Amino acid sequence: MKCRKCGSAAALELRRHNAAFCSPHFLEFFRKQVAEAVHRHQMFTREEKIMVAVSGGKDSLALWDVLIEDGYQTAGLYLDLGIFDYSKESKAKCEAFAASRGQTLHIERVAEAVGAPIPVVQQATRRPTCSACGLSKRYLMNRAALQHGYPVVATGHNLDDEAATLFGSVMHWQTDALPRQSPALASTHPKLVRRVKPLYRLSELETAAFAFLRGIDYIVEECPFAKGATSIAHKQVLDRLEEASPGSKHNFLFGFLEKARPAFEKIEHVELLECTSCGQVTTGAICAFCKLADLVKRRTTG
Ligand code: AMP
Ligand code: FES
Ligand code: ZN
Ligand code: ZN
Repeated sequence: MKCRKCGSAAALELRRHNAAFCSPHFLEFFRKQVAEAVHRHQMFTREEKIMVAVSGGKDSLALWDVLIEDGYQTAGLYLDLGIFDYSKESKAKCEAFAASRGQTLHIERVAEAVGAPIPVVQQATRRPTCSACGLSKRYLMNRAALQHGYPVVATGHNLDDEAATLFGSVMHWQTDALPRQSPALASTHPKLVRRVKPLYRLSELETAAFAFLRGIDYIVEECPFAKGATSIAHKQVLDRLEEASPGSKHNFLFGFLEKARPAFEKIEHVELLECTSCGQVTTGAICAFCKLADLVKRRTTG
């Protein structure tokens, strides 16, 4: 197989693009896809400071690498979930990455904000771990960005993540979730920062290849609570479809974004208020995060 660009021996075949690339041209392809995402959805400008949420995994560190190399003003945000060795190792990867590139890394401890680390929160809520964890992550990302003056948070969600989330929402016809599934969410309130996903055009395999070729040291293990999650089953289904018909994930996600998403956009206006306890944006009097923190407090001290 030969590189589509230069004809030398290809290092990687991208079946869904019906193309193969040598290492340098794959890196170029990857960066162009990020640039295309940023441009198409007007994610951020060169004048803005971008907060990159990094988990220590390949996707978010690859994203941070691309943005730094492209000359954007960035800083990292690591949320320490307090999940045993997994959190210790992933935090160390983020710190090493930031230090090697002379970048600022903000760190927030979930245990401090919610009152207990995620494994204890899970026991207190008796709900699937990822629901309290996801809620805490979204809340703390927004709060940290506001506190430190970043107008936008970028996450490392890739094509596989986005296609699997869409698949899950469609499977359960969560019509509230569908309009919120987007590569770029605008700020709808002065206390809500923009959220963007510059890797949505790139597959998990592609971000892994990019991280490898760039020599990025990332944590390979998944969160120990992720095992058996339905999102993993959804990914497996989509992997089988992709295997049988390359481009399936891409067509599913991009077809939705271009053709179906507008149909689910809400017309009615939801009033956004400020939580009477913490001041962050909510639709009720007390936000879901404060309710969670309160529940954790009652169950762990009672
Ligand atoms: P996940 O929900 O684990 O698939 O992660 C999706 C994205 O959320 C990652 O690419 C990161 O940008 C962000 N993220 C996940 N976990 C953390 C964390 N502990 N700290 C900061 N950002 C995170
Ligand atoms: Fe949140 Fe695993 S990362 S429960
Ligand atoms: Zn080439
Ligand atoms: Zn609150």
